[in-house]
Amino acid sequence: MKKIIKNGIIVTATDIYRADLCIENGIITQIGADFSEQGAEVTDAKGCYLFPGGIDPHTHLDMPFGGTVTKDNFETGTMAAAFGGTTTVIDFCLTQKGKSLQSAVETWHAKSKNKAVIDYGFHLQIVEMNETVLKELPKVMEEEGITSLKVFMAYKNQFQADDETLFQTLISAKEHGALVMVHAENGDVIDYLVKKALAEGNTDPIYHALTRPPEAEGEATGRAATLTELAKSQLYVVHVTCAEATRKIAEARNKGIDIWGETCPQYLVLDQTYLEKPDFEGAKYVWSPPLREKWNQEVLWNALKTGQLQTLGSDQCSFDFVGQKDLGKDDFSKIPNGGPIIEDRVCILFSEGVKKGRITLNQFVDLTSTRAAKLFGLYPKKGTIAIGGDADIVIFDPTVERIISAETHHMAVDYNAFEGMKIIGEPVSVLSRGEFVIRDKQFVGSPGKGQYLKRAKYGTFKENKESKPLTI
Ligand code: URP
Ligand code: ZN
Ligand code: ZN
Repeated sequence: MKKIIKNGIIVTATDIYRADLCIENGIITQIGADFSEQGAEVTDAKGCYLFPGGIDPHTHLDMPFGGTVTKDNFETGTMAAAFGGTTTVIDFCLTQKGKSLQSAVETWHAKSKNKAVIDYGFHLQIVEMNETVLKELPKVMEEEGITSLKVFMAYKNQFQADDETLFQTLISAKEHGALVMVHAENGDVIDYLVKKALAEGNTDPIYHALTRPPEAEGEATGRAATLTELAKSQLYVVHVTCAEATRKIAEARNKGIDIWGETCPQYLVLDQTYLEKPDFEGAKYVWSPPLREKWNQEVLWNALKTGQLQTLGSDQCSFDFVGQKDLGKDDFSKIPNGGPIIEDRVCILFSEGVKKGRITLNQFVDLTSTRAAKLFGLYPKKGTIAIGGDADIVIFDPTVERIISAETHHMAVDYNAFEGMKIIGEPVSVLSRGEFVIRDKQFVGSPGKGQYLKRAKYGTFKENKESKPLTI
């Protein structure tokens, strides 16, 4: 059925204007005014913004980690994402040494099939590089439309890959059109510091932060940038937390290296003191890299404003406080790393960023949706509001005031990292490919409706080139 959304204010990464939208077969077919409403389902969006659906380029759903499995899976995680204004997630598909890449992708398809309520894609982890992987990689990328590869420089004896693996991944990615993503922390140094802290009897959550200093993030970021320059490749640094890493990215960009940086809402509004909360509550804020001293927040906001960092991911990786985080009650290194962020990513940036005058409305759209669509091969089908694009639309009330709480959130976990935070703005309704997933703040979608996205190669869309025309 034809849908019309009228009286809203359309916001893209470049424009703000009042217009009505006509949606047919999941696609935006007209943008204008005075459409015939005959036979159409009409939604009045008066007083609301219409944003392109958020794209979260960094999620860990149903992921085994730290002796347990993340609490939110592809059903609960994507449902919570939709409530928060996100209509696409790109999740990290983990691989194992000695096992085929294809088998890992199949595992991730099995986790997500018939579960996701919004569209989704996968990044592929590279944990080792050898003749077998080198041979299989282009085939998997081509067949699965996976055009981003993830290398962990930390989590020694678990996910961590060595520099040779990273370097070869960068070379292979350049050849086959993929973007390499890094978790940039020096895992060897961290491993030493963790062992030392525990040997000295320091077991509380705060030692998670103290054993992962910002210098370890800055060093790894700079090293990854240098390897990217050597390989003449392209790099995306996930979850940037601090001045040291931001500076390395800015320096590399100034040198002309093709490098991009992502930060996450938690680093913009929370700080290291949260890990000192009594009664083990600090464990709720244990993730990697850790929360930093508060002054880093201003550095990150400025980097978003000036374009030194370009995207906002959630790094959704949720564990219950009771029954999961408490695995590390007597040893901070056993606390499963990660937090529940997927639902509040977009709204926190709107409230803390746009409402407080730190970024513009256009920048907000770019950071939460458009830039990720461009970098990860989804633009212009996704990431903007344009004729021929998928009707992934957020009808957003910019005036409503509310308080974030686990009592009202939709994630499956027993706490919210932003508990008690007052924010302004909320999605009223959310459409995924023209179908309501959220309507008037109620979930009306269904598990399995979300489609797996095969993505275009890195560089398909270039800022200064015409994008490929859309066909309706
Ligand atoms: O603590 C975190 N961030 N958990 C998820 C895995 C990762 O490093 O992104
Ligand atoms: Zn990470
Ligand atoms: Zn992550």
